[in-house]
Amino acid sequence: MALLDVKDLGVTFATNDGTVTAVNGVSFSLERGETLGIVGESGSGKSQLSFAIMGLLAKNGRARGSVRFKGHEILNAAPSVINARRAVHISMVFQDPMTSLNPYMRVCDQMAEILTHHQGMSKADALKACVQMLDAVKIPDAKGRVRLYPHEFSGGMRQRVMIAMALLCRPDVLIADEPTTALDVTVQAQIMSLLRELQAEFGMATILITHDLGVIAGFCRDVMVLYGGQVMETAPVDPLFESPSHPYTRGLINAIPRVDTQGETLVTIPGTPPNMLRAPKGCPFAPRCAYAAEDCDDHIAPLTAFAPGRLRACNRSLKDLA
Ligand SMILES: Nc1ncnc2c1ncn2[C@@H]1O[C@H](COP(=O)(O)OP(=O)(O)OP(=O)(O)O)[C@@H](O)[C@H]1O
Ligand SMILES: [Mg+2]
Repeated sequence: MALLDVKDLGVTFATNDGTVTAVNGVSFSLERGETLGIVGESGSGKSQLSFAIMGLLAKNGRARGSVRFKGHEILNAAPSVINARRAVHISMVFQDPMTSLNPYMRVCDQMAEILTHHQGMSKADALKACVQMLDAVKIPDAKGRVRLYPHEFSGGMRQRVMIAMALLCRPDVLIADEPTTALDVTVQAQIMSLLRELQAEFGMATILITHDLGVIAGFCRDVMVLYGGQVMETAPVDPLFESPSHPYTRGLINAIPRVDTQGETLVTIPGTPPNMLRAPKGCPFAPRCAYAAEDCDDHIAPLTAFAPGRLRACNRSLKDLA
């Protein structure tokens, strides 16, 4: 039995203009200690996919499909079940630290609350555990700084606090949603190396969400490429970079800025992401795809295995793309 088993997960939002399809039929499973990267452009459904797993969709959102945690269905489960699982077994580091840190509460109070509330710890023990966790995420003088307010931390340190909070209950699964986007490159690298260390130390399964394939390369074993809410390709990291099997993945790889081509124009994928208000019938990438043929607007091939650990959803054969 997989630790986390996601099957045919779909997310839609009811809006005044109609139904937005944010995630469409996503499946994957994760074992203890595994690292999965989810990559895709802005709006491809990465955050909504994680919110659905966490039971945190906005009020106008609906999730369908199945999310099983250690065999138990948690998608659309009763709030009491979700609350218990959310805090204890699956944690998330959010894209924007300030959305989950309360600016009016000292860090020690918001962190300790998690432990007193979910694990029934005494306040003194909780405070000790919080300082230990801030030490683990390498916040200097954790004992003194735990009494500060979130705005008294720098961006990088605030992200460390977020990671410490997410790890407090020793989750089995950690979802890190763009944990480094708001940070400068040096701090980004520090946070990623910290996450790598913590992942090895705590052994939790980790889902790393990013639009940056470069970040995934150094962290994840497997990668799932999302476009228009659908999985285009899944592969272990090395084969994905060596021989991407989907035109969209190729576009993403070509768009990674390279040091040796500094000064040259950045390669981008022409066109814009699909409008998910009118979810396309065929392949969502077809309008931007250099290999698309007429049938691509009508249907998309189901995600199919073609090599060990590798799946692709593309009407064109690998030979067509050669
Ligand atoms: N409450 C909502 N109502 C309507 N549409 C929504 C709502 N929340 C999200 N969406 C839509 O869902 C789609 C997927 O959004 P999501 O936040 O998952 O993108 P993302 O891949 O995380 O992008 P980014 O890289 O910018 O964070 C987008 O088209 C977005 O506009
Ligand atoms: Mg997002």
